[in-house]
Amino acid sequence: MNETTALDVRSVSKTYWERGKPGVRAVDDVSFSVAPNEVVGLLGPNGAGKTTIIKCILGIMRPDSGEISVFGQDVQAHYPRVLEKMSAVLEGSRNLYWRLTVWENILFFSGLNGISPRENREYFEYLIQLFSLQDKRDVQVRKLSQGMKQKTSVICALARRTPLIFLDEPTLGLDVETSLELRHVLRQLAQEENRTIVVSSHDMDVIQDICQRVVILSSGRVIVNDQVNHLMQLFGTRAYRIVLDAPLPPGLEEALTPHFTGVVITPHDTDVELKVDLAERDDIYLLMDILRNTGAIINEISHEEVDLERVFLEIVRRERNGYVSGYSL
Ligand SMILES: Nc1ncnc2c1ncn2[C@@H]1O[C@H](COP(=O)(O)OP(=O)(O)O)[C@@H](O)[C@H]1O
Ligand SMILES: [Mg+2]
Repeated sequence: MNETTALDVRSVSKTYWERGKPGVRAVDDVSFSVAPNEVVGLLGPNGAGKTTIIKCILGIMRPDSGEISVFGQDVQAHYPRVLEKMSAVLEGSRNLYWRLTVWENILFFSGLNGISPRENREYFEYLIQLFSLQDKRDVQVRKLSQGMKQKTSVICALARRTPLIFLDEPTLGLDVETSLELRHVLRQLAQEENRTIVVSSHDMDVIQDICQRVVILSSGRVIVNDQVNHLMQLFGTRAYRIVLDAPLPPGLEEALTPHFTGVVITPHDTDVELKVDLAERDDIYLLMDILRNTGAIINEISHEEVDLERVFLEIVRRERNGYVSGYSL
């Protein structure tokens, strides 16, 4: 915990108790931190504990154990003043006053943080234009579509000019087009503004589009905390498909299997297809040596495209099998 950390979550746990039912351990010993200006995703399936963690950080809910600090200030000890440092769009809750117009909502929510409407008028107008809500500026929020309401909620959170912003499932319930537009704008804002943003989503595409780093949660626990690029590289450079001239070179299979467990060799009439998952990037050299030594003629090398979804499924699978720590994740 220090002043240069925007958010520090240490060993936070939270169990929900309902009368007559066993407790639900929604958040289980979760730790992660976020540096200033970082855009971090909380990714996990429904029920993974994303919203609960965000509520604990915002002080809406008290964790059973653990510590949370925002820019070096303990949230519970500095409550409610610490709220000046963060704003949020929470999933499924009303983040707006429905009888106020878009513009009035912006003035109201920014006013909570003492943001002067006079000095920030241009910025507010800029946000409205960025989210294509110019026509709706003076329309009551209750008359807007779901997507427009969501965009207005995001604008109101941004208008408070807090250094830290939480967006909980920002694209949930939006049609594909609006979701893509919102993601595009969020990515642009994340690049333009010096702000720290935490985005939660069950949708890998949303995280892949907006975030630099991802914290993957499963059943209330952190299973991966890594740069999105690194995860893609790590998995992307591993899966190779190689096509050789037929026939299958003698001794190739015997030479490969001790080094590359899980290699799949499929001989066809005119060629031989190899599918291999490398454990380490440098294993490509070993693979090439073996192919050369057995006289194989390479026709084609490609590596399979991966997206965050495949990475996510693969990580969850490995974690279930108990060997995720074997990888440098
Ligand atoms: N108010 C509540 N009372 C009881 N259980 C809850 C409550 N809120 C959430 N849960 C349970 O806690 C777990 C985590 O929920 P949540 O934090 O909403 O996950 P996520 O946001 O990742 O979908 C789920 O099993 C959910 O059913
Ligand atoms: Mg949620």
